[in-house]
Amino acid sequence: MALRHLMSPLDLTVDETTRLLDLAYDMELHPETYAHICEGKRLATLFFEPSTRTRLSFEAAMMNLGGKVLGFSSADSSSAAKGETVGDTMRIVSCYADICAMRHPKEGAPLVASMRSMVPVINAGDGGHQHPTQTLTDLLTIRSLKGRLDHLKVGLCGDLKFGRTVHSLISALSRWEDISFVLISPEELKVPGYVREALNAKNIPYTEVVKLDEDTMAGLDVLYMTRVQKERFFNEEDYVRMKDFYILDREKMKLAPKDMYVLHPLPRVNEISVEVDDDPRAAYFYQAQCGVYVRMALILTLLGMAPEHI
Ligand code: NCD
Repeated sequence: MALRHLMSPLDLTVDETTRLLDLAYDMELHPETYAHICEGKRLATLFFEPSTRTRLSFEAAMMNLGGKVLGFSSADSSSAAKGETVGDTMRIVSCYADICAMRHPKEGAPLVASMRSMVPVINAGDGGHQHPTQTLTDLLTIRSLKGRLDHLKVGLCGDLKFGRTVHSLISALSRWEDISFVLISPEELKVPGYVREALNAKNIPYTEVVKLDEDTMAGLDVLYMTRVQKERFFNEEDYVRMKDFYILDREKMKLAPKDMYVLHPLPRVNEISVEVDDDPRAAYFYQAQCGVYVRMALILTLLGMAPEHI
């Protein structure tokens, strides 16, 4: 089997993505079937940037499959601190592991690593660029809650400039029928040009607005909230000015459609008030749970071990 990596959600076709989501769903229903399938296999998690959900859900995923995990959770504890390149690090790690998930503050670093790797490399977030496994998680969550990935109006709110989860989700969803987007952000944090150009090229309807109000939320199937990405700002002043731009609270939720689910890749800071957690439309904790199943399915798929019948 040819070596396959996952750098962007577009590295999987729509059919492959659907199959992966079906496999994730089967794993949720029948975990025992998969409990030993990766015995003898190792996953390396190379995290040059902080993470809770992504790294731990990758590790839990490999353990659920009966495999083992190794790795590091900060650049300081790896040889990057001595000046080693990601290419060299990856070349070495591919002697120790069968598959690798890498997070890095520099855009494109996992791609560079994949070019030197002898095992599949998964981009677990590269700077403000892409985060394909969060997108698979988001797709599984949306499909489970709404029963479909087509005919959806999706609002994305917050830091659309630096939020890599937003860029990946927009490009992935754009491949389904009848998708439209409402992009809600301060002027300074609008989606990057390449994301807008891809939407224009495919004639996908979208609007860009600043306010998160009743009119903006009208007709939304999903509202995807994001935090302002503090670590990607060049100065503290701009961050402070924008960090509390949006706060989704109980009052705002009263104005939202009854069937509009609220997603958030987490961590949240202030953009969703804790009082929203009890709202039946709050789906962000369920979303985090979906992350384990899609990562299990992805590991099997990239190792070429996904069962034929799904
Ligand atoms: C996201 C990320 O790292 O981009 N978190 C995650 O992986 N669940 C979102 C964020 O950090 O804001």
